[in-house]
Amino acid sequence: MQRILEPEIMADAEQSLGYADADFSISNQSFVDHVLSNGVHTLHHVIDIGCGPCDVMVRLADACPDIHITAIDGSAAMVDLAREAVRASSHESRIAVIQGYIPGLPLSEYGFDAVLSKDLLHHLPDPMVLWSEIQRLGQTGAAVYVMDLIRPDTPQDADDIVAKVAPDAHAILRQDFYNSLCAAFTLDEVNAQLQQAGLLLQVRHISDRHMLIAGVLP
Ligand SMILES: C[S@@+](CC[C@H](N)C(=O)[O-])C[C@H]1O[C@@H](n2cnc3c(N)ncnc32)[C@H](O)[C@@H]1O
Repeated sequence: MQRILEPEIMADAEQSLGYADADFSISNQSFVDHVLSNGVHTLHHVIDIGCGPCDVMVRLADACPDIHITAIDGSAAMVDLAREAVRASSHESRIAVIQGYIPGLPLSEYGFDAVLSKDLLHHLPDPMVLWSEIQRLGQTGAAVYVMDLIRPDTPQDADDIVAKVAPDAHAILRQDFYNSLCAAFTLDEVNAQLQQAGLLLQVRHISDRHMLIAGVLP
């Protein structure tokens, strides 16, 4: 099926709260495990683009005592929820949550030794924005980990994934999930984006619904 865009920023407070309350522990921990498999020694100054409620970065900070994370999101409602989660985790001194939008983040270039992003890519009308921001923010040798949904072949396949993964979720969350699947990219599309950006990253199909794009910046 063709890609169907969904609203880019999750600005609605009820939608953001529904997302924050949902149980994404399996995919969130899987992302963190992939990042950790890279070797924690390279993770000192890390940025997470589109951090949402920050569950992913709290998990990463739990695992890495020396890490400093800048977590950004364009949604004020998500940023409030993220700050709450960071306060509750007692990682306030190591995770800075900032409301910010890509492109145009007020952060200096090449400042990070890892650039991370989970489930943001499919929100972007122009996906090239993420790849150029990664190149701008990551220093030479920086690790890149981007995890995102894979667009199913048909609307029925998207329906089936929602029914399998979130059978008891709230209607708003189920609709969001369906919309996100329809807005996601295929592996071929992401490979074409990387080629256009001149980025040598590896794209892997890692679960029934997720791809992982990973590698190192030149
Ligand atoms: C589906 S959530 C993912 C949140 C989190 N990374 C996770 O995996 O739980 C995507 C987030 O990206 C944010 N977002 C979308 N477009 C953005 C942009 N251009 N700049 C910054 N944040 C953006 C949305 O507001 C939303 O909070």
